[in-house]
Amino acid sequence: MLPFLEAVQPELERVNQTILKRLYSEEPLVEDIGNHLINAGGKRLRPILVLMCARALGYSGDKHYELAAVIEFIHSATLLHDDVVDVSELRRGRPTANAKWGNAPSVLVGDFLYSRAFQMMVAVGSMDIMNTLSNTTNTIAEGEVQQLANARKSDLSEEAYRKVIYKKTAALFEAACECGASVAADENAEVDAYRNSLKQFGYHLGLAFQLMDDLLDYDGDAEALGKNVGDDLAEGKSTLPVIYALAHSGEADAQLIREAISSADLSKLDDIIKLVKQSGGLDYTRRAACHHAEQAIEHLQQVPESNWRQSLIELTRFAVERAY
Ligand code: IPE
Ligand code: IPE
Ligand code: MG
Ligand code: MG
Repeated sequence: MLPFLEAVQPELERVNQTILKRLYSEEPLVEDIGNHLINAGGKRLRPILVLMCARALGYSGDKHYELAAVIEFIHSATLLHDDVVDVSELRRGRPTANAKWGNAPSVLVGDFLYSRAFQMMVAVGSMDIMNTLSNTTNTIAEGEVQQLANARKSDLSEEAYRKVIYKKTAALFEAACECGASVAADENAEVDAYRNSLKQFGYHLGLAFQLMDDLLDYDGDAEALGKNVGDDLAEGKSTLPVIYALAHSGEADAQLIREAISSADLSKLDDIIKLVKQSGGLDYTRRAACHHAEQAIEHLQQVPESNWRQSLIELTRFAVERAY
């Protein structure tokens, strides 16, 4: 077990029970697809962040279980939709819901999970949290649309790429941390002073996390990842490894990369991986991820010292050292 998981494991058990309880529907297809994805596991990083951030600020109640489940529901909804859009076939070591049931059920069950998350949020009863999470889900949706609009563009800037990864991924990490802090501040107004530090922590951690995801899409192992490598090239996504490689390769190599992106040509994956590696694009992406991880840890140092804070530091290290 990863070291940072030990302390949070009993709490995470409670969240998993909540998730299963809240997946109910009178339509068996909803439960089948929901269980298929959610029972496959996943790292549960976002709900873990809610739990740890709340506890790091001394929270002693039990609203954070429901809130953590809300965040995992939102994440699961985005995965169902994302795998349709990305035409992905493997997720958490299983065939994706779209591969097993088709696109239409995946989209609709994704909507079901989104709306169930909002029902649960209302039950938590904090206007502050509703505000954060309604903005966040809107930001994620916009990020996914922007990424789609950027597909097959081989001249995408690093700035445009970073905007998308903030919206589609870092925004939810940021929100998970902020919401954890928010329940704690509702209980004890004194800890409200740390809310922004935890939000900034989540922001940098989320960027580090997606940068590593984009690296692993070129350099990872499908078995360990539980999803296929090469999905980004197959969709013509310009991610940082490629953006860097385009700017740091000779004209002939750059032309090959440009063509692979603009034609979304997966048959060239092995050649493109070689060119991206050669250019230093993977190292550059890893350094960028590590830089954000360091910044995340710096923001954490503003929060009072505790075992929970230490676990958050270990989780951050895992995010940039991981192979899955
Ligand atoms: C996958 O997230 C989607 C991204 C934002 C890259 P995770 O890698 O956290 O997925 P699970 O929940 O562990 O399967
Ligand atoms: C996922 O980005 C972001 C969301 C799910 C919103 P990716 O498309 O890179 O995630 P994976 O690689 O499919 O998990
Ligand atoms: Mg995807
Ligand atoms: Mg990816």
